[in-house]
Amino acid sequence: MCGIVGYIGNQKAAPILLSGLTKLEYRGYDSAGIAVMENGKIEVQKDKGRVSNLYKIKEIENLQGNIGIAHTRWATHGIPSKENAHPHTDNTKKFAVVHNGIIENYVELRKELEAEGYSFYSQTDTEVIPNLIQYFYDKDDKNDELKIVRAVKNTTDKLIGSYAIEVLCNENPDIMVVVRKDSPLVIGKGNNENYIASDIPAILSYTKDFYLLENLEFAMLSRDSIRFFDKDLKEFNKKADTITWNAMAADKNGYEDYMLKEIYEQPTAIRETIGTRVNEGICKFDELNFTKEYLSSLKQIYIVACGTAMHAGLAVKSTIERMSRIHTQVDIASEFRYRDPLVDEKTLCIFITQSGETADTIAALKLCKEKGAKTLAVTNVIGSSITREADYAIYTHAGPEIAVASTKAYTSQITLLVLLAMYFAQILNNISKEELGNIIKEMLVLPNKVEEVLKSTEQIKDIAKHMFKEKDVFYLGRGIDYTTAQEASLKVKEISYIHSESYAAGELKHGTIALIEKGVNVIGIMTDTNLVKKTVSNMEEIITRGAITTVVLSEEVAKDLNTDIFTNVIVVPNTEIYLSPIITVVPLQLLAYYISKEKGLDVDKPRNLAKSVTVE
Ligand code: AGP
Repeated sequence: MCGIVGYIGNQKAAPILLSGLTKLEYRGYDSAGIAVMENGKIEVQKDKGRVSNLYKIKEIENLQGNIGIAHTRWATHGIPSKENAHPHTDNTKKFAVVHNGIIENYVELRKELEAEGYSFYSQTDTEVIPNLIQYFYDKDDKNDELKIVRAVKNTTDKLIGSYAIEVLCNENPDIMVVVRKDSPLVIGKGNNENYIASDIPAILSYTKDFYLLENLEFAMLSRDSIRFFDKDLKEFNKKADTITWNAMAADKNGYEDYMLKEIYEQPTAIRETIGTRVNEGICKFDELNFTKEYLSSLKQIYIVACGTAMHAGLAVKSTIERMSRIHTQVDIASEFRYRDPLVDEKTLCIFITQSGETADTIAALKLCKEKGAKTLAVTNVIGSSITREADYAIYTHAGPEIAVASTKAYTSQITLLVLLAMYFAQILNNISKEELGNIIKEMLVLPNKVEEVLKSTEQIKDIAKHMFKEKDVFYLGRGIDYTTAQEASLKVKEISYIHSESYAAGELKHGTIALIEKGVNVIGIMTDTNLVKKTVSNMEEIITRGAITTVVLSEEVAKDLNTDIFTNVIVVPNTEIYLSPIITVVPLQLLAYYISKEKGLDVDKPRNLAKSVTVE
């Protein structure tokens, strides 16, 4: 996920572009750049690192031009570097483009362009875009004012994936063209000036009048006009919306906190993580070269991580085992690294880490390498420390996760690891095409089901209102639901400071039930029809002791259950068992969030915590 900004008007573009990028840095910050039309020539200045680096570039201070585009990057293809930073230009330097999204077929397009004599200076997917635009533009011999829009349209017709694109052309120095598909882009309407941004915060200080571009709509902007074209380039009028947000709220794109924003970004994060990995019923990991021989030779798989990332490992342990038929265990990095684990060349070690910087996880990886094991990092940050140590790295595409409490990274990690398990099963022929197809089909509708759950906030807020004064809360579950109980318990602890404990429901009567008394809050998670009866009887045992119970049920479980015995009942859509932790955790993330809000706490920056634990 990246941030893009554009400006066309009578002021110097550079300061407006840099200010916009600064506000969009939460969308990505590993490299940044701007392009400004300077006396009919496109001047590009960009560098690795944060937007603040651009302020140090002298040439930018001297840019007088008043039309420009800008970009702050969250690398998806190509490590963070100056060459990979946007804007990108075509071979003739006639066009400059910034892009937010993923072009899934960029490898094929790059080959086609190379066959036409084009060369590439970066490893990015984006660089094919300006070259395609230039290719179509120069082939179009109709020299009218829409020539550039046609060239952009012919280009997007060839793109598979997601994009929000801004285009500058030195043969049309007084206009800018934009288009989007599945990546956000808004147009701000000023007085003899117009603005573009990935979302409203970047430009809210300049205008409150916005056009929200829909998928496959094009816009051509000049200082005093904005023309809209549909997917067939038919011109149409669009009504502007007036935004009433205050500036503070705007930095989170209208959400009160980054954590809430990131909870609501989960459908997009899951979609982007699935992205290019499923194709005609097959899972693919082009960056991995595991063979049937290697996987068959493995004695075990170790998954090693910390905190929520470790919970993601627990959530996929049985899936990886079931699909690969390889004994799989999960361990906490800070424990694993000190107990001389039985690891050797017949062990595949998988390390899950959102930041890619967690000290214990990196240390555990180094230990496994010393012991001869292959190492695979699962992370959200391209170019992070762990990716430089691991033999292999695969990425979630959750975009930057700012809130200390991990939400979208967790569900994206599970998504990616289920895909990895399916990839192993494919190589080992352990899964039928039909079963694979069913899981993929369910995975592709998963984001919509998460969106459905995200609509049930009123009920969650109400439960939070009754819980926030509690001193203790228990989370119970069996099987895959026990894992969700562990993650849900961590969420509520770390942002509301309520003491919480997750317990295997079947283990309760072996001691901990002694803590249950009148008024104690217990949350039972029951989504697996094979285990529900047992967990219900555990819940009945605590209800007779006066507990206040909230249950999270799958629709399938709920339809056959007498739910009158529970205080609160939250129902989530059914899904494949492998994917259920992704849906089931969402209401419990929201519950933790609203409990913390009821207590008036700083949800995004809880006390004593850091987003990335880079010390041991
Ligand atoms: C999750 O909500 C916590 N903030 C924490 O447990 C986190 O998951 C853990 O520190 C691991 O971080 P990583 O994924 O960046 O390695």
